Amino acid sequence: MLSRLNGLALLAGMTALSSICSPAAHAAGDPVIGEKKFYTCVGCHGIENYKNAYPDYDVPRLRHQNAAYIISALQEYKSGERPHPTMHAQASSLSDQDMEDIAAYLQGGDPVKPSAKVVGTVPAQVAPCAACHGENGLGVDAPMNPKPPVLAGQHVDYLEQALTTYKNGRRKNVVMDGMAQLLKSDEDVKIVAAYFASQPSPLLTAKIGSK
Ligand code: HEC
Ligand code: HEC
Repeated sequence: MLSRLNGLALLAGMTALSSICSPAAHAAGDPVIGEKKFYTCVGCHGIENYKNAYPDYDVPRLRHQNAAYIISALQEYKSGERPHPTMHAQASSLSDQDMEDIAAYLQGGDPVKPSAKVVGTVPAQVAPCAACHGENGLGVDAPMNPKPPVLAGQHVDYLEQALTTYKNGRRKNVVMDGMAQLLKSDEDVKIVAAYFASQPSPLLTAKIGSK
């Protein structure tokens, strides 16, 4: 009896130990596996100018977007914190490891490098955004958690949609809720979205095989 109990205790101890010693709950993302897992996503994200219906806007460009941001977006769709029925269904079928792998594939190497290069005149409305997104939407060097997404080169109608939903409270984020309120009119939203969308950027539609 005693030895059987000891055996059980030993077993329990080993299980506890192995969960402490095993690598973090999930390993770093594998971009090769991620590309395969992304197959279910290309029907929308791999097609140039594929549109969300009602309201009508381009699905976001994901190739070269920051991995940390992609993971946080997928987690928020999965939990329902970021409401979108289609993306909720998509993200619900993904494990944490799937998200890491897909994000590693989409980012494809190092995160986008910030730069000071700006095309055209920077609108006054962009001044409060630069601290986190960079003046050109490529981001800044400072480490930030959560990591802000790359805005440069994103679809203009998607950026408008994102800013409008932060403004009206449908999409929630501690930082962006307040920031979007700084854009007083629809015209301000349009100016800022058009400016960031027009900046040179590595963001692309994530077609299969795109580098
Ligand atoms: C049926 C079309 C469709 C499919 C399939 C789809 N998505 Fe999406 N995805 C969308 C739409 C539309 C949005 C924008 C939703 C919104 O406005 O929040 C989006 C948004 C996203 C975003 C947020 C990007 C950002 O800049 O915030 C990520 C990340 C994403 N999708 C990843 C995926 C992944 C990974 C898959 C596959 C597992 C996938 N999507 C499958 C339509 C789709
Ligand atoms: C203090 C840092 C900070 C500032 C300042 C800031 N942002 Fe953001 N922004 C973020 C973070 C973090 C996110 C990701 C939020 C989320 O997950 O919903 C984000 C998300 C966004 C998105 C969504 C992009 C996508 O792919 O869905 C847009 C658009 C955006 N910001 C525009 C702006 C604009 C325009 C301004 C200035 C008026 C601004 N931001 C100021 C940190 C910031």
